[in-house]
Amino acid sequence: MNQGPSLWGWSFMACAWGAILLLTIYCFSRVLLARKRQAESGGRAQWASRIGLILAMAGNAIGLGNFLRFPVKAAANGGGAFMIPYFCALVFLGIPLMWVEWSMGRHGGVHGHGSTPGMFALMWKHPLAKYLGALGIALPLTIVIYYNFIESWTLGFAWFSGTGKYFGLTTREAMGQFLRGFQGAEQNRFFASWLPIIFFFGLTLSINYYFLRQGIARGIEVLAKIGMPILFAFGIILAVRVLTLGAPAEGASSIPAGLAYMWDPDFSQLGKATVWLVAAGQVFFTLSIGQGIINTYASYLREKDDVTLNGLSTSMTNEFAEIILGGTIAIPVAVAFFGVAETRLIANEGSFNLGFQSLPVVFQKIPLGQLFGAMWFLLLFIAGITSSVALTSPAVAFLEDEFQWARAKAVNTVFAVLASCTVLVIAFFRFGFLDELDFWAGTFGLVVFAAFEIVIFSWVFGVRKGWEQMHLGADLKVPKIFKFILKYVTPVYMLVVLGAWTYQEAIGKLLMKGENPLHRPYLWGARAMFVGLIAITAFMVRVAWRHRQAGSRQ
Ligand code: ALA
Repeated sequence: MNQGPSLWGWSFMACAWGAILLLTIYCFSRVLLARKRQAESGGRAQWASRIGLILAMAGNAIGLGNFLRFPVKAAANGGGAFMIPYFCALVFLGIPLMWVEWSMGRHGGVHGHGSTPGMFALMWKHPLAKYLGALGIALPLTIVIYYNFIESWTLGFAWFSGTGKYFGLTTREAMGQFLRGFQGAEQNRFFASWLPIIFFFGLTLSINYYFLRQGIARGIEVLAKIGMPILFAFGIILAVRVLTLGAPAEGASSIPAGLAYMWDPDFSQLGKATVWLVAAGQVFFTLSIGQGIINTYASYLREKDDVTLNGLSTSMTNEFAEIILGGTIAIPVAVAFFGVAETRLIANEGSFNLGFQSLPVVFQKIPLGQLFGAMWFLLLFIAGITSSVALTSPAVAFLEDEFQWARAKAVNTVFAVLASCTVLVIAFFRFGFLDELDFWAGTFGLVVFAAFEIVIFSWVFGVRKGWEQMHLGADLKVPKIFKFILKYVTPVYMLVVLGAWTYQEAIGKLLMKGENPLHRPYLWGARAMFVGLIAITAFMVRVAWRHRQAGSRQ
Protein backbone atom coordinates (compact mmCIF):
# COMPACT_ATOMS: atom_id res chain seq x y z
CA MET A 1 0.00 0.00 0.00
CA ASN A 2 1.88 3.06 -1.19
CA GLN A 3 -0.94 5.38 -2.01
CA GLY A 4 -1.09 8.84 -0.53
CA PRO A 5 -4.18 10.54 0.88
CA SER A 6 -7.33 10.80 -1.22
CA LEU A 7 -8.58 14.18 -2.41
CA TRP A 8 -10.63 14.38 0.80
CA GLY A 9 -7.56 13.53 2.88
CA TRP A 10 -5.42 16.18 1.22
CA SER A 11 -8.25 18.71 1.55
CA PHE A 12 -8.67 18.05 5.29
CA MET A 13 -4.94 18.24 5.82
CA ALA A 14 -4.58 21.43 3.75
CA CYS A 15 -7.52 23.14 5.47
CA ALA A 16 -6.33 22.21 8.98
CA TRP A 17 -2.72 23.23 8.29
CA GLY A 18 -3.77 26.40 6.47
CA ALA A 19 -6.16 27.54 9.21
CA ILE A 20 -3.64 26.89 11.98
CA LEU A 21 -0.77 28.57 10.11
CA LEU A 22 -2.81 31.64 9.20
CA LEU A 23 -4.15 32.08 12.73
CA THR A 24 -0.70 31.58 14.26
CA ILE A 25 0.82 34.20 11.93
CA TYR A 26 -2.10 36.56 12.60
CA CYS A 27 -1.71 36.21 16.40
CA PHE A 28 2.02 36.75 16.43
CA SER A 29 1.94 39.72 14.09
CA ARG A 30 -0.67 41.31 16.38
CA VAL A 31 1.46 40.51 19.42
CA LEU A 32 4.48 42.17 17.81
CA LEU A 33 2.48 45.26 16.86
CA ALA A 34 0.70 45.51 20.21
CA ARG A 35 1.34 48.34 22.60
CA LYS A 36 3.87 48.29 25.42
CA ARG A 37 3.23 46.49 28.67
CA GLN A 38 2.38 48.32 31.85
CA ALA A 39 5.00 49.19 34.40
CA GLU A 40 5.80 46.76 37.21
CA SER A 41 3.15 46.93 39.88
CA GLY A 42 5.03 45.30 42.76
CA GLY A 43 3.47 42.72 45.10
CA ARG A 44 3.19 39.22 43.63
CA ALA A 45 5.71 37.77 41.20
CA GLN A 46 5.20 38.69 37.53
CA TRP A 47 6.29 37.57 34.08
CA ALA A 48 9.26 39.55 32.79
CA SER A 49 8.21 39.82 29.13
CA ARG A 50 5.21 39.23 26.93
CA ILE A 51 6.97 36.77 24.69
CA GLY A 52 8.23 34.93 27.78
CA LEU A 53 4.66 34.73 29.06
CA ILE A 54 3.32 33.35 25.76
CA LEU A 55 6.16 30.82 25.54
CA ALA A 56 5.58 29.73 29.14
CA MET A 57 1.85 29.35 28.53
CA ALA A 58 2.51 27.49 25.27
CA GLY A 59 5.00 25.29 27.13
CA ASN A 60 2.32 24.66 29.72
CA ALA A 61 -0.05 23.47 27.00
CA ILE A 62 2.36 21.69 24.63
CA GLY A 63 3.18 18.37 26.19
CA LEU A 64 3.26 14.64 25.67
CA GLY A 65 -0.37 14.99 24.59
CA ASN A 66 0.61 16.81 21.38
CA PHE A 67 3.17 14.31 20.13
CA LEU A 68 1.92 11.00 21.48
CA ARG A 69 -1.74 11.25 22.41
CA PHE A 70 -3.07 13.34 19.52
CA PRO A 71 -1.85 11.27 16.53
CA VAL A 72 -2.99 8.05 18.16
CA LYS A 73 -6.45 9.42 18.99
CA ALA A 74 -6.90 10.99 15.56
CA ALA A 75 -5.82 7.89 13.66
CA ALA A 76 -7.97 5.61 15.80
CA ASN A 77 -11.09 7.77 15.56
CA GLY A 78 -11.71 8.56 11.93
CA GLY A 79 -8.50 10.19 10.64
CA GLY A 80 -9.39 13.41 8.80
CA ALA A 81 -13.01 13.11 9.92
CA PHE A 82 -11.79 13.32 13.56
CA MET A 83 -10.83 16.91 12.76
CA ILE A 84 -14.52 17.87 12.57
CA PRO A 85 -15.38 17.08 16.22
CA TYR A 86 -11.88 18.23 17.16
CA PHE A 87 -12.33 21.70 15.62
CA CYS A 88 -15.85 21.98 17.07
CA ALA A 89 -14.45 21.22 20.52
CA LEU A 90 -11.60 23.69 19.93
CA VAL A 91 -13.91 26.56 18.92
CA PHE A 92 -16.78 25.92 21.33
CA LEU A 93 -14.91 24.56 24.36
CA GLY A 94 -11.14 24.97 24.13
CA ILE A 95 -10.68 28.59 23.10
CA PRO A 96 -13.58 30.00 25.19
CA LEU A 97 -12.36 28.10 28.26
CA MET A 98 -8.82 29.30 27.57
CA TRP A 99 -10.11 32.92 27.78
CA VAL A 100 -12.15 32.09 30.89
CA GLU A 101 -9.11 30.62 32.66
CA TRP A 102 -6.85 33.53 31.68
CA SER A 103 -9.45 36.07 32.87
CA MET A 104 -10.17 34.21 36.10
CA GLY A 105 -6.46 33.81 36.77
CA ARG A 106 -5.61 37.47 36.19
CA HIS A 107 -8.56 38.60 38.33
CA GLY A 108 -7.46 36.24 41.13
CA GLY A 109 -3.83 37.33 40.93
CA VAL A 110 -4.72 41.01 41.19
CA HIS A 111 -6.49 40.14 44.46
CA GLY A 112 -3.57 38.06 45.73
CA HIS A 113 -4.85 34.58 44.81
CA GLY A 114 -2.76 32.35 42.53
CA SER A 115 -4.88 29.23 42.81
CA THR A 116 -8.53 28.44 42.15
CA PRO A 117 -9.97 28.34 45.72
CA GLY A 118 -9.40 32.10 45.98
CA MET A 119 -10.36 32.70 42.32
CA PHE A 120 -13.68 30.86 42.66
CA ALA A 121 -14.41 32.60 45.96
CA LEU A 122 -13.95 36.00 44.31
CA MET A 123 -16.45 35.16 41.56
CA TRP A 124 -18.98 33.25 43.64
CA LYS A 125 -19.62 34.61 47.12
CA HIS A 126 -20.61 31.29 48.59
CA PRO A 127 -18.74 29.18 51.19
CA LEU A 128 -18.76 26.21 48.79
CA ALA A 129 -16.86 28.06 46.06
CA LYS A 130 -13.44 27.75 47.68
CA TYR A 131 -13.90 24.00 48.20
CA LEU A 132 -14.76 23.46 44.53
CA GLY A 133 -11.64 25.47 43.78
CA ALA A 134 -9.60 22.98 45.83
CA LEU A 135 -9.95 20.64 42.85
CA GLY A 136 -7.82 23.06 40.81
CA ILE A 137 -4.92 22.20 43.15
CA ALA A 138 -5.56 18.50 43.80
CA LEU A 139 -6.10 17.59 40.11
CA PRO A 140 -2.82 18.96 38.71
CA LEU A 141 -0.97 17.62 41.76
CA THR A 142 -2.33 14.13 41.12
CA ILE A 143 -1.55 14.39 37.40
CA VAL A 144 2.03 15.53 37.98
CA ILE A 145 2.60 12.63 40.39
CA TYR A 146 2.50 10.25 37.40
CA TYR A 147 3.40 12.74 34.64
CA ASN A 148 6.90 13.21 36.11
CA PHE A 149 7.40 9.45 35.98
CA ILE A 150 6.50 9.31 32.26
CA GLU A 151 8.69 12.35 31.69
CA SER A 152 11.61 10.47 33.24
CA TRP A 153 11.17 7.70 30.62
CA THR A 154 11.70 10.30 27.89
CA LEU A 155 14.93 11.42 29.52
CA GLY A 156 16.04 7.81 29.91
CA PHE A 157 15.21 7.01 26.28
CA ALA A 158 17.04 10.14 25.05
CA TRP A 159 20.12 8.74 26.77
CA PHE A 160 19.56 5.19 25.52
CA SER A 161 19.10 6.51 21.96
CA GLY A 162 22.20 8.71 22.06
CA THR A 163 24.33 5.87 23.44
CA GLY A 164 22.67 3.25 21.23
CA LYS A 165 21.78 1.05 24.24
CA TYR A 166 18.74 -0.49 22.62
CA PHE A 167 20.30 -0.74 19.16
CA GLY A 168 20.12 -4.34 18.04
CA LEU A 169 16.54 -4.77 19.33
CA THR A 170 14.91 -4.57 15.95
CA THR A 171 11.43 -5.83 16.75
CA ARG A 172 8.60 -4.13 18.55
CA GLU A 173 8.33 -7.08 20.92
CA ALA A 174 11.98 -6.81 21.98
CA MET A 175 11.58 -3.03 22.44
CA GLY A 176 8.46 -3.68 24.51
CA GLN A 177 10.50 -5.92 26.81
CA PHE A 178 13.20 -3.26 27.05
CA LEU A 179 10.59 -0.62 27.94
CA ARG A 180 8.88 -2.80 30.54
CA GLY A 181 12.23 -3.62 32.10
CA PHE A 182 13.07 0.07 32.35
CA GLN A 183 9.64 0.92 33.79
CA GLY A 184 10.06 -1.73 36.48
CA ALA A 185 7.01 -3.58 35.13
CA GLU A 186 9.09 -6.75 34.83
CA GLN A 187 12.63 -7.83 35.63
CA ASN A 188 14.40 -9.00 32.51
CA ARG A 189 17.77 -9.32 30.80
CA PHE A 190 17.90 -5.60 30.00
CA PHE A 191 17.44 -4.17 33.48
CA ALA A 192 18.34 -6.25 36.50
CA SER A 193 17.53 -3.57 39.08
CA TRP A 194 15.43 -0.46 39.60
CA LEU A 195 18.47 1.79 39.75
CA PRO A 196 18.08 3.24 36.21
CA ILE A 197 14.44 4.20 36.85
CA ILE A 198 15.33 5.76 40.17
CA PHE A 199 18.27 7.61 38.61
CA PHE A 200 16.27 9.11 35.70
CA PHE A 201 13.28 9.86 37.89
CA GLY A 202 15.53 11.58 40.46
CA LEU A 203 17.17 13.60 37.70
CA THR A 204 13.80 14.62 36.22
CA LEU A 205 12.50 15.66 39.63
CA SER A 206 15.67 17.65 40.36
CA ILE A 207 15.43 19.60 37.08
CA ASN A 208 11.77 20.36 37.79
CA TYR A 209 12.71 21.41 41.32
CA TYR A 210 15.46 23.74 40.10
CA PHE A 211 13.22 25.73 37.75
CA LEU A 212 10.29 25.91 40.15
CA ARG A 213 12.53 27.01 43.01
CA GLN A 214 13.89 29.87 40.87
CA GLY A 215 10.41 31.39 40.63
CA ILE A 216 8.31 32.76 37.79
CA ALA A 217 10.50 35.13 35.78
CA ARG A 218 13.88 33.57 36.63
CA GLY A 219 12.78 29.94 36.56
CA ILE A 220 9.69 29.03 34.56
CA GLU A 221 10.05 31.85 32.03
CA VAL A 222 13.74 31.11 31.45
CA LEU A 223 12.93 27.41 30.97
CA ALA A 224 10.31 28.32 28.35
CA LYS A 225 12.60 30.78 26.55
CA ILE A 226 15.31 28.12 26.23
CA GLY A 227 13.10 25.06 25.83
CA MET A 228 10.43 26.17 23.37
CA PRO A 229 12.74 27.27 20.53
CA ILE A 230 14.64 23.97 20.89
CA LEU A 231 11.36 22.05 20.89
CA PHE A 232 10.15 23.75 17.70
CA ALA A 233 13.54 23.36 16.00
CA PHE A 234 13.64 19.63 16.83
CA GLY A 235 9.99 19.22 15.84
CA ILE A 236 10.49 20.88 12.45
CA ILE A 237 13.71 18.92 11.75
CA LEU A 238 11.99 15.63 12.60
CA ALA A 239 8.87 16.47 10.58
CA VAL A 240 10.98 17.38 7.52
CA ARG A 241 13.02 14.20 7.99
CA VAL A 242 9.82 12.14 8.09
CA LEU A 243 8.33 13.80 5.01
CA THR A 244 11.53 13.16 3.02
CA LEU A 245 11.99 9.55 4.14
CA GLY A 246 10.41 7.98 1.07
CA ALA A 247 9.56 4.28 1.28
CA PRO A 248 11.75 2.18 3.56
CA ALA A 249 13.64 -0.36 1.43
CA GLU A 250 12.07 -3.46 2.93
CA GLY A 251 8.82 -1.77 3.88
CA ALA A 252 5.48 -2.48 2.31
CA SER A 253 4.29 1.04 2.88
CA SER A 254 5.38 4.67 2.65
CA ILE A 255 5.07 8.09 4.27
CA PRO A 256 2.21 9.22 1.94
CA ALA A 257 0.37 6.07 3.02
CA GLY A 258 0.95 7.17 6.63
CA LEU A 259 -0.46 10.61 5.85
CA ALA A 260 -3.44 8.91 4.21
CA TYR A 261 -4.00 6.84 7.37
CA MET A 262 -3.81 10.02 9.45
CA TRP A 263 -5.95 12.26 7.24
CA ASP A 264 -8.29 10.23 4.97
CA PRO A 265 -11.71 10.83 6.54
CA ASP A 266 -13.84 7.94 7.68
CA PHE A 267 -17.17 9.79 7.90
CA SER A 268 -18.96 6.78 9.41
CA GLN A 269 -17.08 7.52 12.68
CA LEU A 270 -18.91 10.83 13.10
CA GLY A 271 -22.09 9.06 14.13
CA LYS A 272 -20.39 7.62 17.21
CA ALA A 273 -20.72 9.56 20.46
CA THR A 274 -17.34 8.30 21.66
CA VAL A 275 -15.53 10.01 18.79
CA TRP A 276 -16.99 13.35 19.89
CA LEU A 277 -16.03 12.60 23.50
CA VAL A 278 -12.50 11.61 22.59
CA ALA A 279 -12.11 14.80 20.53
CA ALA A 280 -13.36 16.96 23.42
CA GLY A 281 -11.11 15.10 25.86
CA GLN A 282 -8.09 15.62 23.60
CA VAL A 283 -8.79 19.35 23.32
CA PHE A 284 -8.98 19.65 27.13
CA PHE A 285 -5.85 17.62 27.68
CA THR A 286 -3.75 19.32 25.05
CA LEU A 287 -4.69 22.91 25.91
CA SER A 288 -4.21 22.18 29.65
CA ILE A 289 -7.80 23.26 30.26
CA GLY A 290 -9.72 22.23 33.38
CA GLN A 291 -6.60 21.70 35.47
CA GLY A 292 -6.25 25.05 37.24
CA ILE A 293 -2.80 25.54 35.70
CA ILE A 294 -3.58 28.17 33.07
CA ASN A 295 -5.30 30.08 35.90
CA THR A 296 -2.18 29.98 38.06
CA TYR A 297 0.13 31.18 35.26
CA ALA A 298 -2.34 33.97 34.42
CA SER A 299 -2.36 35.10 38.05
CA TYR A 300 1.13 36.49 37.48
CA LEU A 301 -0.22 39.05 34.98
CA ARG A 302 -0.73 42.71 35.71
CA GLU A 303 -4.26 44.09 36.01
CA LYS A 304 -4.51 45.36 32.44
CA ASP A 305 -2.29 42.87 30.66
CA ASP A 306 -4.06 41.49 27.61
CA VAL A 307 -5.69 38.08 27.96
CA THR A 308 -7.63 37.72 24.69
CA LEU A 309 -4.78 37.92 22.18
CA ASN A 310 -2.37 36.11 24.50
CA GLY A 311 -4.90 33.35 25.12
CA LEU A 312 -5.51 32.88 21.40
CA SER A 313 -1.77 32.95 20.64
CA THR A 314 -1.17 30.24 23.25
CA SER A 315 -3.92 28.09 21.74
CA MET A 316 -2.59 28.52 18.20
CA THR A 317 1.00 27.78 19.20
CA ASN A 318 -0.26 24.59 20.82
CA GLU A 319 -2.28 23.65 17.73
CA PHE A 320 0.73 24.25 15.47
CA ALA A 321 2.72 21.80 17.61
CA GLU A 322 -0.17 19.35 17.72
CA ILE A 323 -1.61 19.24 14.22
CA ILE A 324 1.35 20.20 12.07
CA LEU A 325 4.23 18.63 14.02
CA GLY A 326 2.48 16.00 16.17
CA GLY A 327 0.40 14.77 13.23
CA THR A 328 3.40 14.47 10.93
CA ILE A 329 5.90 12.50 13.00
CA ALA A 330 4.78 9.42 14.92
CA ILE A 331 1.92 7.95 12.87
CA PRO A 332 3.25 8.41 9.31
CA VAL A 333 6.59 6.89 10.37
CA ALA A 334 4.90 3.94 12.07
CA VAL A 335 2.75 3.28 8.98
CA ALA A 336 5.73 3.53 6.63
CA PHE A 337 7.71 0.96 8.59
CA PHE A 338 5.05 -1.34 10.05
CA GLY A 339 2.11 -0.94 7.68
CA VAL A 340 -1.43 0.19 8.48
CA ALA A 341 -2.70 -2.98 10.19
CA GLU A 342 0.14 -3.15 12.69
CA THR A 343 0.05 0.60 13.36
CA ARG A 344 -3.63 0.25 14.16
CA LEU A 345 -2.76 -2.47 16.66
CA ILE A 346 -0.03 -0.35 18.21
CA ALA A 347 -2.34 2.66 18.45
CA ASN A 348 -5.03 0.61 20.15
CA GLU A 349 -2.55 -0.63 22.74
CA GLY A 350 -2.14 2.86 24.18
CA SER A 351 -0.67 6.26 23.43
CA PHE A 352 2.79 5.60 24.76
CA ASN A 353 3.66 2.37 23.00
CA LEU A 354 3.94 4.19 19.73
CA GLY A 355 6.59 6.61 20.97
CA PHE A 356 8.57 4.22 23.14
CA GLN A 357 8.27 0.87 21.39
CA SER A 358 7.87 1.52 17.69
CA LEU A 359 9.85 4.61 16.91
CA PRO A 360 13.06 3.22 18.50
CA VAL A 361 12.79 0.33 16.00
CA VAL A 362 12.55 2.88 13.19
CA PHE A 363 15.55 4.88 14.45
CA GLN A 364 17.65 1.75 14.05
CA LYS A 365 16.78 1.61 10.35
CA ILE A 366 17.56 5.15 9.26
CA PRO A 367 20.90 6.91 8.82
CA LEU A 368 21.93 8.93 11.90
CA GLY A 369 19.26 7.06 13.86
CA GLN A 370 20.99 7.61 17.22
CA LEU A 371 20.91 11.34 16.66
CA PHE A 372 17.26 11.43 15.50
CA GLY A 373 16.27 9.13 18.37
CA ALA A 374 17.92 11.38 20.94
CA MET A 375 16.27 14.39 19.30
CA TRP A 376 12.80 12.79 19.44
CA PHE A 377 13.05 11.86 23.12
CA LEU A 378 14.60 15.21 24.09
CA LEU A 379 11.72 16.92 22.28
CA LEU A 380 9.32 14.84 24.39
CA PHE A 381 11.29 15.66 27.53
CA ILE A 382 11.12 19.42 26.85
CA ALA A 383 7.41 19.15 26.02
CA GLY A 384 6.97 17.23 29.28
CA ILE A 385 8.97 19.44 31.62
CA THR A 386 7.39 22.71 30.49
CA SER A 387 4.03 21.09 31.35
CA SER A 388 5.11 19.45 34.61
CA VAL A 389 6.39 22.69 36.15
CA ALA A 390 2.97 24.16 35.29
CA LEU A 391 1.15 21.21 36.87
CA THR A 392 3.13 21.68 40.10
CA SER A 393 2.55 25.46 40.22
CA PRO A 394 -1.00 25.67 41.66
CA ALA A 395 0.01 23.85 44.86
CA VAL A 396 3.09 26.04 45.26
CA ALA A 397 1.08 29.23 44.60
CA PHE A 398 -1.57 28.12 47.11
CA LEU A 399 0.98 27.71 49.92
CA GLU A 400 2.69 31.00 49.05
CA ASP A 401 -0.47 33.09 48.70
CA GLU A 402 -2.84 31.63 51.26
CA PHE A 403 -0.32 30.66 53.97
CA GLN A 404 2.25 33.38 53.20
CA TRP A 405 5.02 30.79 52.97
CA ALA A 406 8.34 31.66 51.34
CA ARG A 407 8.75 30.10 47.88
CA ALA A 408 11.55 27.79 49.10
CA LYS A 409 9.37 26.34 51.88
CA ALA A 410 6.37 25.96 49.54
CA VAL A 411 8.41 24.24 46.80
CA ASN A 412 10.18 21.93 49.29
CA THR A 413 6.88 20.84 50.82
CA VAL A 414 5.19 20.18 47.47
CA PHE A 415 8.18 18.17 46.24
CA ALA A 416 8.24 16.08 49.42
CA VAL A 417 4.60 15.14 48.75
CA LEU A 418 5.27 14.56 45.05
CA ALA A 419 8.29 12.33 45.57
CA SER A 420 6.55 10.19 48.22
CA CYS A 421 3.44 9.68 46.11
CA THR A 422 5.40 8.91 42.91
CA VAL A 423 7.25 6.13 44.76
CA LEU A 424 3.87 4.37 44.99
CA VAL A 425 3.20 5.00 41.28
CA ILE A 426 6.55 3.43 40.39
CA ALA A 427 6.17 0.49 42.78
CA PHE A 428 2.63 -0.37 41.64
CA PHE A 429 2.96 0.65 37.99
CA ARG A 430 2.53 -2.92 36.76
CA PHE A 431 -0.84 -3.19 38.48
CA GLY A 432 -2.39 -0.29 36.56
CA PHE A 433 -1.93 2.30 39.34
CA LEU A 434 -0.81 5.02 36.90
CA ASP A 435 -3.66 4.44 34.43
CA GLU A 436 -6.20 4.61 37.24
CA LEU A 437 -4.91 8.01 38.37
CA ASP A 438 -4.83 9.15 34.73
CA PHE A 439 -8.46 8.27 34.19
CA TRP A 440 -9.87 9.92 37.32
CA ALA A 441 -7.65 12.99 37.47
CA GLY A 442 -6.32 13.42 33.92
CA THR A 443 -9.44 12.51 31.94
CA PHE A 444 -12.63 12.64 33.97
CA GLY A 445 -11.58 15.14 36.66
CA LEU A 446 -10.64 17.88 34.27
CA VAL A 447 -13.96 17.78 32.45
CA VAL A 448 -15.78 18.05 35.80
CA PHE A 449 -13.59 20.94 36.89
CA ALA A 450 -14.02 22.81 33.60
CA ALA A 451 -17.81 22.43 33.95
CA PHE A 452 -17.61 24.18 37.37
CA GLU A 453 -15.49 26.93 35.85
CA ILE A 454 -17.79 27.76 32.97
CA VAL A 455 -20.90 27.77 35.18
CA ILE A 456 -19.23 30.04 37.75
CA PHE A 457 -17.87 32.40 35.09
CA SER A 458 -20.86 32.68 32.76
CA TRP A 459 -23.79 32.18 35.10
CA VAL A 460 -22.79 33.04 38.65
CA PHE A 461 -20.32 35.86 38.05
CA GLY A 462 -22.31 36.66 34.92
CA VAL A 463 -21.25 36.71 31.30
CA ARG A 464 -21.62 40.52 31.08
CA LYS A 465 -19.15 41.12 33.91
CA GLY A 466 -17.02 38.24 32.65
CA TRP A 467 -16.87 39.80 29.17
CA GLU A 468 -15.78 43.16 30.65
CA GLN A 469 -13.17 41.39 32.75
CA MET A 470 -11.87 39.57 29.65
CA HIS A 471 -11.56 42.81 27.67
CA LEU A 472 -9.69 44.83 30.31
CA GLY A 473 -6.56 46.01 28.44
CA ALA A 474 -7.39 43.64 25.58
CA ASP A 475 -5.37 43.80 22.35
CA LEU A 476 -8.00 41.76 20.52
CA LYS A 477 -11.71 42.41 20.52
CA VAL A 478 -13.35 39.00 20.61
CA PRO A 479 -16.32 38.71 18.19
CA LYS A 480 -19.63 39.25 20.04
CA ILE A 481 -20.86 35.79 19.06
CA PHE A 482 -18.52 34.39 21.71
CA LYS A 483 -20.58 36.08 24.41
CA PHE A 484 -23.45 33.83 23.35
CA ILE A 485 -21.10 30.85 23.05
CA LEU A 486 -19.74 31.45 26.57
CA LYS A 487 -23.18 31.73 28.07
CA TYR A 488 -25.02 28.92 26.29
CA VAL A 489 -22.98 26.82 23.89
CA THR A 490 -19.94 26.03 26.06
CA PRO A 491 -21.94 25.12 29.22
CA VAL A 492 -24.43 22.96 27.28
CA TYR A 493 -21.66 21.29 25.24
CA MET A 494 -19.77 20.71 28.53
CA LEU A 495 -22.73 19.20 30.30
CA VAL A 496 -23.54 16.93 27.36
CA VAL A 497 -19.91 15.75 27.20
CA LEU A 498 -19.85 15.22 30.95
CA GLY A 499 -23.16 13.36 30.97
CA ALA A 500 -22.23 11.11 28.05
CA TRP A 501 -18.80 10.48 29.49
CA THR A 502 -20.17 9.53 32.90
CA TYR A 503 -22.69 7.21 31.28
CA GLN A 504 -20.33 5.62 28.75
CA GLU A 505 -17.08 5.36 30.65
CA ALA A 506 -17.04 6.51 34.25
CA ILE A 507 -19.67 4.11 35.59
CA GLY A 508 -18.02 1.02 34.07
CA LYS A 509 -14.66 2.25 35.27
CA LEU A 510 -16.02 2.94 38.75
CA LEU A 511 -17.29 -0.63 38.98
CA MET A 512 -13.95 -1.89 37.58
CA LYS A 513 -15.68 -3.82 34.80
CA GLY A 514 -13.29 -6.21 33.08
CA GLU A 515 -10.43 -5.48 35.49
CA ASN A 516 -8.01 -8.18 36.52
CA PRO A 517 -9.07 -9.13 40.11
CA LEU A 518 -5.41 -9.15 41.16
CA HIS A 519 -5.13 -5.48 40.22
CA ARG A 520 -8.21 -4.32 42.11
CA PRO A 521 -6.61 -3.63 45.52
CA TYR A 522 -4.00 -1.44 43.81
CA LEU A 523 -6.64 0.42 41.83
CA TRP A 524 -8.50 1.09 45.07
CA GLY A 525 -5.19 2.31 46.46
CA ALA A 526 -4.84 4.77 43.56
CA ARG A 527 -8.39 6.02 44.15
CA ALA A 528 -7.70 6.40 47.87
CA MET A 529 -4.63 8.46 47.05
CA PHE A 530 -6.59 10.73 44.71
CA VAL A 531 -9.50 11.20 47.14
CA GLY A 532 -7.01 11.70 49.98
CA LEU A 533 -5.25 14.49 48.08
CA ILE A 534 -8.58 16.22 47.40
CA ALA A 535 -9.58 15.89 51.09
CA ILE A 536 -6.25 17.23 52.38
CA THR A 537 -6.40 20.17 49.95
CA ALA A 538 -9.97 20.99 50.97
CA PHE A 539 -8.94 20.81 54.64
CA MET A 540 -6.04 23.19 54.01
CA VAL A 541 -8.37 25.58 52.21
CA ARG A 542 -10.55 25.57 55.30
CA VAL A 543 -7.56 26.27 57.58
CA ALA A 544 -6.36 29.11 55.32
CA TRP A 545 -9.79 30.76 55.26
CA ARG A 546 -10.14 30.41 59.07
CA HIS A 547 -6.81 32.19 59.49
CA ARG A 548 -7.89 34.87 57.08
CA GLN A 549 -11.14 35.44 59.00
CA ALA A 550 -9.31 35.51 62.32
CA GLY A 551 -6.80 37.98 60.83
CA SER A 552 -9.49 40.31 59.52
CA ARG A 553 -11.29 40.35 62.90
CA GLN A 554 -8.15 41.50 64.71
N1 ALA B 1 -1.27 19.89 28.00
C1 ALA B 1 -0.28 18.98 28.40
C2 ALA B 1 -0.05 17.92 27.38
O1 ALA B 1 -0.51 18.01 26.26
C3 ALA B 1 -0.62 18.40 29.74
O2 ALA B 1 0.61 16.96 27.66
